[in-house]
Amino acid sequence: MEVKEQIEQLRKELDRHNYNYYVLNAPEISDHEFDRLMRKLQELEEAHPEYYDPDSPTQRVGSDLNQDFTQVAHRYPMLSLSNTYNKQEVAEFYERVQAGLKGEHFEICCEMKYDGLSISLIYEHGRLVRAVTRGDGIQGDDVTENVRTIRCIPLRLRGNGYPENFEIRGEILMPWVSFEALNKEREEREEPLFANPRNAASGTLKSKNSSVVAQRKLDAYLYYLLGNDIPSDGHYENLQAARSWGFKVSTAMKKVTTLEEIYQYIDYWDTERKNLPVATDGIVLKVNSLQQQRALGYTAKSPRWAIAYKFQAERARTRLNAVTFQVGRTGAVTPVANMDPVQLAGTIVKRATLHNADIMEQLDLHIGDMVYVEKGGEIIPKIVGVDKDARNAQTGPKAQFITYCPECGEKLVRYEGEAAWYCPNDTACPPQIKGRIEHYISRKAMNIDSLGPETVDDYYHRGLIHDVADLYDIRVDQINGEDGTREKSAQKVVRSIADSTKVPFERVVFALGIRFVGEIAAKTLARHFKTMEALKTATLEELLQINGIGSVIAESVIRYFHNGTNLQLIQRLKEHGVQMALSEEELSTHSDKLSGQSIVVSGVFSLHSRDEYKAMIEQHGGKNVSSISSKTSFVLAGANMGPAKLEKANKLGIPILSETEFLKKIE
Ligand code: IVH
Repeated sequence: MEVKEQIEQLRKELDRHNYNYYVLNAPEISDHEFDRLMRKLQELEEAHPEYYDPDSPTQRVGSDLNQDFTQVAHRYPMLSLSNTYNKQEVAEFYERVQAGLKGEHFEICCEMKYDGLSISLIYEHGRLVRAVTRGDGIQGDDVTENVRTIRCIPLRLRGNGYPENFEIRGEILMPWVSFEALNKEREEREEPLFANPRNAASGTLKSKNSSVVAQRKLDAYLYYLLGNDIPSDGHYENLQAARSWGFKVSTAMKKVTTLEEIYQYIDYWDTERKNLPVATDGIVLKVNSLQQQRALGYTAKSPRWAIAYKFQAERARTRLNAVTFQVGRTGAVTPVANMDPVQLAGTIVKRATLHNADIMEQLDLHIGDMVYVEKGGEIIPKIVGVDKDARNAQTGPKAQFITYCPECGEKLVRYEGEAAWYCPNDTACPPQIKGRIEHYISRKAMNIDSLGPETVDDYYHRGLIHDVADLYDIRVDQINGEDGTREKSAQKVVRSIADSTKVPFERVVFALGIRFVGEIAAKTLARHFKTMEALKTATLEELLQINGIGSVIAESVIRYFHNGTNLQLIQRLKEHGVQMALSEEELSTHSDKLSGQSIVVSGVFSLHSRDEYKAMIEQHGGKNVSSISSKTSFVLAGANMGPAKLEKANKLGIPILSETEFLKKIE
């Protein structure tokens, strides 16, 4: 078979698998097989740049070149919907439509109201040419590059019968599972969390770096087709056609005629929506016939032919009894509302986070207030307001933030640019000590799974442990129970602590709990410095030169190793046999093959990520540089390398290596 044909066939095949996986949720092949096909295509494309195609499935990885969004005017303004909050208001809408259509028979299309951010997609000759956010409804941001990385959005349409030129609108969403995973990662890196999937999707879509979008696993449902020659007079029918062209169209759509059926739809989905993979906040009712839609027309802000019914946010009213303060492993103090227990969204809630001093102040809480608690898109319940009318003579004083640590009495401090107050007494404040030990034993750190927060608390109170090095001094006779009946489990504890000395160095670096040093930064530091000795003596300049280590992490590392207590702790861990260097095996993946070479990494890669390539360059002694100059040794180029860079490299005679050539070089 001709190479060109082979490339085309692979693209087609991969497109189909993408569609099966991301639109139909019904993959036919394993991820492994998918990756294999993708790699094959990538290799062929690399060897034959003359067959480059921006719509190829290999191009959905995005780029980390910064982009600024340009503003684009919408062909048709993006209006919003007027909201209703109860069945009475829905009935009024139904009657208005009835009256507006002068008794004509009509159908209503009921569908879910997706809680993400709206997007307008323009297709010409079956290809995606532009994606624009809602903006102010008249013009929005051109986010085409980012949207192209969302796998369920077709770059080329399937089937036939689609108009030459049309627009389709829908909602971009971050599925619950991706949202939770993203927030978990952010928590580990001590980055601010996204409050709900909508904010996460919005933050992601506005990212200036499309490779971030590609990694964040966004989803999209399309719900509105516009254009001159669209297939049918029926909105529902048009969307079924759009589905056959490859778009993800919700299967929760239903055409009905009576008000009773609308109510049934509302009631059914009010509970059933909890099983959907993405957030919804209501339902949308649309008159199905486009001709009737035109007859009904628009108000200045919204169509007269459609309305949203918003689900009741799950909210409860209860009494605030006290505000307590929690001190975390880093010393950050979080205010917590303690309330009368109340039923909310299937669970009993009695505590809610108040986040920080500023948020607490904004709420103007008084002890004894009746407060409203909500569990909207958020997982942790929060107080959204105070019923100030319910205040009376018995209502207590205003809830104040504290100035001294509730656990150790130290005066709290606030660091510049941070919302939280901190207890600076990290060596003697109990929750900070216990928190550090809990972090040390956690799965991704030293994985001492025979211990948990309760045992840590118990050993701490009995004076057995004060820091992580004390763990290694614990003897069976100290923890086998008063009468020695728990010998077996005590032996297990001691054994699993001893086993942790085999845990690789990079996880030891993570386990130390250096502020801002999450799993990835720990790995980077361990691989760069190779030994604790080298890491300990690293200078700020050295740290800042490492890819992926910014000033926040670098300064925190310096601070950590300037502290005598930390140095003593590391010395004791070393004496107990904890890994203080990369192992022989880990070292063997390192070399000095690129020593003295300055390398520019540019473009989009598919076999490894750009960061992985940068890490490999460092592991093999090379230096990453960002711009091409006469001193550049070579350019590692992926797809889509900017034309300006390419020209410069050619002019200076700098060799350009492909992914595969680079991998061979360091093999
Ligand atoms: S139709 C002219 N259908 O809700 C009508 N909108 O307040 C165009 N939304 O901006 C919108 N699910 O972001 C429509 N099934 C759905 C929807 C939906 C969510 C959003 C959309 C719009 C907002 C309206």
